[in-house]
Amino acid sequence: MGRFGDDKIEEVRSRADIVEIVGAHVRLRRAGRNFVGLCPFHNEKTPSFSVNAERGFFHCFGCGVGGSVFNFITRVEGLTFPEAVRSLAKKYGVTLPEHDVSGPAAGEREAMLKASEVAAEFFAHVLWNTTDGAMARDYLKSRGISVESARAFMIGYAPSRPASLAKALEKRGLREAGIKVGLVKKDGNDAYDMFRARVMFPIRDAQGRAIAFGGRVLDARLPKYINSPESPLYSKARTLYGLFEARQAISSSASSGKDRAILVEGYFDVIALWQAGFKEAVAGCGTALTVDQLRVLGRYTKNVIACFDGDAAGRKASMRALEIFLQAGLLGRGIFIPSGFDPDTFVRERGAAAFVELIEKAQLLVELYALQELAESGGPNAKIEARMNAAERVAEKLRLIHTAFEFHEMVRRAAFLLQVPDEVLRAEGKKQITSQRIRGEASEEFRPPNSSGDVIVRAELTLLAMALMHPDLRGEIFAAQPFGQYREKLLSDLLRSVCEETED
Ligand code: UTP
Ligand code: MN
Repeated sequence: MGRFGDDKIEEVRSRADIVEIVGAHVRLRRAGRNFVGLCPFHNEKTPSFSVNAERGFFHCFGCGVGGSVFNFITRVEGLTFPEAVRSLAKKYGVTLPEHDVSGPAAGEREAMLKASEVAAEFFAHVLWNTTDGAMARDYLKSRGISVESARAFMIGYAPSRPASLAKALEKRGLREAGIKVGLVKKDGNDAYDMFRARVMFPIRDAQGRAIAFGGRVLDARLPKYINSPESPLYSKARTLYGLFEARQAISSSASSGKDRAILVEGYFDVIALWQAGFKEAVAGCGTALTVDQLRVLGRYTKNVIACFDGDAAGRKASMRALEIFLQAGLLGRGIFIPSGFDPDTFVRERGAAAFVELIEKAQLLVELYALQELAESGGPNAKIEARMNAAERVAEKLRLIHTAFEFHEMVRRAAFLLQVPDEVLRAEGKKQITSQRIRGEASEEFRPPNSSGDVIVRAELTLLAMALMHPDLRGEIFAAQPFGQYREKLLSDLLRSVCEETED
């Protein structure tokens, strides 16, 4: 039995409106009995994602993902199953038992969250209330961080003694949990602290719970930062520092939201911008930017402005970023922080107005990419071959764009900068889109064994899309199934089940 009891889970499932829940993340359109839209779990231009409100499930015919409203929430919001149940129960007014009858795995997770919470409180206590913390308080002051900002981000200080936190966790029976989240390291029978004499930045999940930490030395020693390792609570590639603090400010759905996020690199950049009034700033957590991080951010806004260094390395970084943005379904804009500054020092020394000026100059990553390619090929007056070469490389990126409207708009802008005709770039950009999609993105089962299979799969996908969008045609499509001996079993079955829905 589950921790809440099956009947409770069923009650939540039946009260939850799956169309409302999915609709918060996907633009849905009614198509007969179903709703269809662009799948949030893979890149696509034509909708193969459908939601069945009556039966309470969703399914993507493109990538094969599907399930209940709970499965949707776990995927899209990164919650565990019980967390998804709790969150929906709350939203739809179902009362769950206070103390769950959770299994060992759930208990372990709770313990890890508890250990992280205890650690965050412990570090904050040391920072504000002990003599150990005095140096760190001075340090934060020297970096222009106000007490209010430091508290908002729950900044703390890890003392230099070898086992302060270890003891605090031990006392609460959280030693093992502390080890699992990398706060404490075991040494024979002893345990010692992983973070010592460091300013501590809790990394929080979207609900504000500490799931990991970054710790900075107070001087120039190396390594400058130590970060928590990956753990069952913490996946670096999916986590954005500052998202909890920023999400209201970012969100296009919140009344105070700016419908924009500013992406920076460091903890101090986030906090300095927050303090200067740019509450919508977030940072990767000491990793190179990932598609998953941008997908998370994309749930709050499609308008993400990335800050790059003003030097050659920064230009290169902006070019690398384009592909990652496009894969996450975002166009992205970039700004360049003048050399010698990072967002933290820039906003502190030049002021918020100067930063606003930079933001107003933000340029689409596609445009930055095209300009850079053009510059590398010898500028607008380069030989025709060089310009075409640049255009080809830009076209390779344009292929990754998700929607037709965005595709055409970006083609237009890039073609203008490259001084090539729109049609040329459009034709290049469209090349092989379909086969690329099918080969690169669909799951293993969808992969055609050979090129004739490829054609069949493509034909079937088209029929599927038609069947989904035009329920009235389903009978006809089903009757005319042209699959013959090349039938790809899974797809045909899917198509049949969609078409048969009209019969029952
Ligand atoms: P930077 O080296 O640019 O540092 O690293 P910073 O943020 O400007 O740091 P301050 O201002 O000197 O304190 C950018 C980010 O990369 C990660 C951290 O998240 C940091 O904020 N980083 C950097 C690490 O994880 N480990 C390191 O050793 C250095
Ligand atoms: Mn810095």
